[in-house]
Amino acid sequence: MAKPLPLLLLFLLFLTITTTTSSSSSSSSSSSSEKLKKMKKKKITHFTVYWHDIVSGPNPSGADVARAPITNTSTTLFGLVRIIDNPLTKGPTMSSDLVGRAQGFYASTSLEYVAFMMAMNFAFTSGKYNGSTVTILGRNEASADVREMPVIGGSGLFRWAQGYAQARTSMANLTTNDVVVKYDVHVMHY
Ligand SMILES: *[C@@H]1O[C@H](CO)[C@@H](O)[C@H](O)[C@H]1NC(C)=O
Ligand SMILES: *[C@@H]1O[C@H](CO)[C@@H](O)[C@H](O)[C@H]1NC(C)=O
Ligand SMILES: *[C@@H]1O[C@H](CO)[C@@H](O)[C@H](O)[C@H]1NC(C)=O
Repeated sequence: MAKPLPLLLLFLLFLTITTTTSSSSSSSSSSSSEKLKKMKKKKITHFTVYWHDIVSGPNPSGADVARAPITNTSTTLFGLVRIIDNPLTKGPTMSSDLVGRAQGFYASTSLEYVAFMMAMNFAFTSGKYNGSTVTILGRNEASADVREMPVIGGSGLFRWAQGYAQARTSMANLTTNDVVVKYDVHVMHY
């Protein structure tokens, strides 16, 4: 009695997939040439923002959500996962114009070096990119002078985005562990 159910589910799933595929292809045909024209104009945008990782004080911009049994004794904080909502500013100081937030998380994923897996969206809240986002996913070896991470997508003005970000430490306070990182982002989009 248990066997027929998965088969039925599979069939229903298949049905849904075929229906959505056919409906999307038929509805887009009228405006497709217009869309194609727009897509041919590929743009390359470069912007610089400063990323504030505030871990100290009464209003930190990050929260640790996971630690492994090894994390506290690990010199690389291996196993730590931190959710961030970091301010992004135009200039290197917090008093500079706020342009958006870096929302996502980073995880310490190296036993030997301090290296993080970064997964975050730069969500713009002012300026010409207001309302648009870019998504960065990559490896960040904190001690390296330049850390390069892929830009894997975007929304709004950055729809279809592809590119890379280069991160350079601008300020690191060894007392508070607060860090400011300059992000140079190069994106190709339509
Ligand atoms: C690691 O350190 C944190 C903060 O000091 C503490 O809250 C936590 O209990 C420790 N975890 C382990 C597994 O020892
Ligand atoms: C950014 O866009 C939002 C939503 O459209 C709008 O409410 C807000 O005023 C804009 N902010 C700035 C600084 O332009
Ligand atoms: C680091 O933070 C402490 C405490 O807020 C502050 O007194 C000190 O000046 C800071 N150091 C640097 C280099 O910014």
